[in-house]
Amino acid sequence: MHRNTGDQTMQQMWTEIDAYIDAHLIPEDPILLQTLKNTEDKGFPDHLAVAPNQGMLLQMLIQMNKCKRVLELGTFAAYSTMWLARALPDDGYILTIEGRDTHAALGQENIDRAKLPQTIDLKVGRAADVLKALPADFEPFDFVFIDADKQSYAEYLELSLNLSHSGTIIVLDNVIRAGEIINPDNHKPSIEGIRDMFAALQDHPRILSCTALQTVGSKGHDGFALAIVK
Ligand code: DHB
Ligand code: MG
Repeated sequence: MHRNTGDQTMQQMWTEIDAYIDAHLIPEDPILLQTLKNTEDKGFPDHLAVAPNQGMLLQMLIQMNKCKRVLELGTFAAYSTMWLARALPDDGYILTIEGRDTHAALGQENIDRAKLPQTIDLKVGRAADVLKALPADFEPFDFVFIDADKQSYAEYLELSLNLSHSGTIIVLDNVIRAGEIINPDNHKPSIEGIRDMFAALQDHPRILSCTALQTVGSKGHDGFALAIVK
């Protein structure tokens, strides 16, 4: 998404600063490194995964709120899943859902190799279908990370709210897309989906408070939204 030389220089600086942050503040974790290496070795792109300093933020949000049950939509390589798991007590539970078979196979392999104590349940299918098929009395989640197909974000938000309790934290990844969300000529389903999500968050009766932050770093210019359930 780098349009000209100026953007490339900026990207280089953001990447170097992320490396500086990681070197100082993000401890090396053999499980996480193994996950990234296996993902690269198998020829999958790494830009879909969260940056380490963002993974740490997810971990900290879970720690701050003493969450035990986590829902993730969009597993990909399960790199973010590992960050979520690292924040949980040993009896913590993660339901992570991946729509693409190839990504699910990679994610499951990385989860199996990690041998983490927490229960990590990877389900394959469109997130909306999997969530709708859960039993009606399914225990609600304390933390939700929405990172699957962007065109369905508004629907995923609603389905997540059905599986939330008062105080559940919801994080939605990739809600800025290098500013494409405000480009009036961009009508891609993924971008329209994020606009629908912003509209859904606005004055939502079940949301206590919410915001969105732009980020720059190794993954470019993007951002995330954060909501607390009323
Ligand atoms: C894309 C998806 C992501 O979840 C992400 O973090 C970065 C990029 C994508 O589909 O391009
Ligand atoms: Mg993402």
